[in-house]
Amino acid sequence: MTYQQQYQSSIANPEAFWREQANRVQWFKEPETILSKDANGIDRWYADGELNTAYLALDYHVLQGRGDQTALIYDSPVTDTRRSYSYRELTAEVARFAGALKARGVEKGDRVVIYMPMVPEAAIAMLACARLGAIHSVVFGGFAASELATRIDDATPKLILSASCGIEIDRVIEYKPILDEAIELAAHKPDGCIILQRDMSRCSLGDRDTDWHDAIAKAEPADCTPVGATDPLYILYTSGTTGKPKGVVRDNGGHAVAMKYSMEAVYDMGVADVFWAASDVGWVVGHSYIVYGPLLAGCTTVFYEGKPVRTPDAGAFWRVCEEYGVKGLFAAPTAFRAVRKEDPQCLLAKQYDLSQLKTIFMAGERLDPPTYDWVVEHIQRPVVDHWWQTETGWAIAGNHVGLGPVAVKAGSVTRPSPGFNVQVLDGRGQPVGANQQGSIAIKLPLPPGCLPTIWGDHDRFVSGYLGTFDGYYVSGDGGYLDDDNYLFVLGRTDDIINVAGHRLSTGEMEEVVAAHEAVAECAVIGQSSELKGEEPLGLVLLKDGVDVDEEALQQQLVQQVREKIGAVASFKSAVVVKRLPKTRSGKILRKILRNIANGEEYNTPSTIDDPACLSEIEQILSEKGIRK
Ligand code: COA
Ligand code: AMP
Repeated sequence: MTYQQQYQSSIANPEAFWREQANRVQWFKEPETILSKDANGIDRWYADGELNTAYLALDYHVLQGRGDQTALIYDSPVTDTRRSYSYRELTAEVARFAGALKARGVEKGDRVVIYMPMVPEAAIAMLACARLGAIHSVVFGGFAASELATRIDDATPKLILSASCGIEIDRVIEYKPILDEAIELAAHKPDGCIILQRDMSRCSLGDRDTDWHDAIAKAEPADCTPVGATDPLYILYTSGTTGKPKGVVRDNGGHAVAMKYSMEAVYDMGVADVFWAASDVGWVVGHSYIVYGPLLAGCTTVFYEGKPVRTPDAGAFWRVCEEYGVKGLFAAPTAFRAVRKEDPQCLLAKQYDLSQLKTIFMAGERLDPPTYDWVVEHIQRPVVDHWWQTETGWAIAGNHVGLGPVAVKAGSVTRPSPGFNVQVLDGRGQPVGANQQGSIAIKLPLPPGCLPTIWGDHDRFVSGYLGTFDGYYVSGDGGYLDDDNYLFVLGRTDDIINVAGHRLSTGEMEEVVAAHEAVAECAVIGQSSELKGEEPLGLVLLKDGVDVDEEALQQQLVQQVREKIGAVASFKSAVVVKRLPKTRSGKILRKILRNIANGEEYNTPSTIDDPACLSEIEQILSEKGIRK
């Protein structure tokens, strides 16, 4: 079926469409109910089905005779290591580690936090949890101890899995002190921790810690535990508009069906094809397309520990593509901007044979036209921009290569994926006409794979996503659909920013900055950045009578954000201003601040309390050379 036929049928009759897709998955108990409501009144897929995600990702392929095929290739230029696992080997490793978890009391429904660098043991840990029906929650390594502590308190894990260290190009990041501090800060204490000792920096183990190798040494392989389709597979925390991250819940059944479907329809990947999502298991891209998607589809996944640049040069992408015969490469635009900065003529790509590479996929942030043009010009492959979110787990819109790609329109993420009834709504929740801007929403039901709730806070799910417009999931992005139903995503309508493809909350940064004793009030906004897409900028109002050295204050604030949120926030600049623009009701006008900082035109709103402060801020930012 073509894209058009699939899309129409998925919208006209979602149950029939997703029943057919479910038939392609090896259930332990096939679902008879395809779409139903749960106790919260939320649409759920395959409620009476039973399966095991790790079985489908591993054992199933071995049983199909694919045991010797490569499942995962670990490529780590930062440690000069290459290792590959066949489906048979990976199944055995996962079963054994699941046995180690089981021996420590982990059962179906228990939570396990994984705070690890990009080592294959992280994937083994995720799959081992899935094998037992335990719920993993991976926390990205760039987050600081207090962020980890917040997640520990929210997920209340039985165990935490971690490693002695991670490597950022040539810097060793000690993970163990961060983990210890997080457990100290958290109210919830896990029963224990299993720690992978890495040779670059071994750590000392305390009473609650077990060495990873000791844990598996005597472990008996554990079988796959059947779970219900709507049982959670994982919780993945993502930034919201407040300081408290949201625990996006992913179920087992809908996720397995969506992953398998999307690998074929969105990425055109089949059994034994090599897929490389150059991301991190701490992000949704890592969950969906480094671990689960490729393995559920019987592909070979590349698990890369390193950056696109300086590992050892900006040719890392092309070297890996040649070495493993990568057919589909997926990365954030920022990664290609980093490559272009170091190798503007893309000379390094010419040193490698990229004949196996068919398509380059990008997502995570807006794909700027110069980056798109540069990649197309130098790599001469189709570049597919696709739009999705942690919440949906797979592409809401894209150019579906597996269904026959269509013509690209500059600046567009092409068309909604089958299953996603994308509408653009006005402020009253009414669909607007073609080419009219509004809030991008998805008419319910959401397709399989999307979140059914926020962990431990269903009200937040309803109020944050479903409560704004009856019958719709609101994405938080604004944009428009053109006459051909091509979608143009123009950016967030809330205070979330995307820094180097990493989703961050400016509200959370504001909380940290405002906690400084000299600060009365502040606004953190996203300022455009050539490399990272956006970077945070703090505008700070001092308390009356406080006299500080601005340079020293900036350093303290930068350090404070680094300690409380993590290096990943990339918070590097803070400027003292005399006033902040506000409405008469006291709301800071952040959008105007963004316009000013980015050198964009703006209209002074009639609701502003003190219009003169705008030119004052313009002047301060210009004088400091910060204004774009
Ligand atoms: N553990 C510890 N620290 C980490 C980390 C991790 N896993 N990941 C990033 N950091 C640190 C970095 O070392 C850096 O620290 P510094 O301020 O001391 O230099 C900081 O967090 C910011 O990292 P980042 O924004 O990634 O900047 P960078 O200069 O290190 O790298 C890019 C820039 C563009 C090369 C890199 O961001 C990249 O490859 N991005 C792709 C993003 C991606 O895959 N996103 C997933 C969505 S598709
Ligand atoms: P995350 O949940 O981290 O994947 O971030 C999701 C957000 O990233 C979306 O809501 C968008 O704001 C942004 N985003 C993701 N993909 C794209 C894209 N292809 N184009 C523009 N913005 C994107």
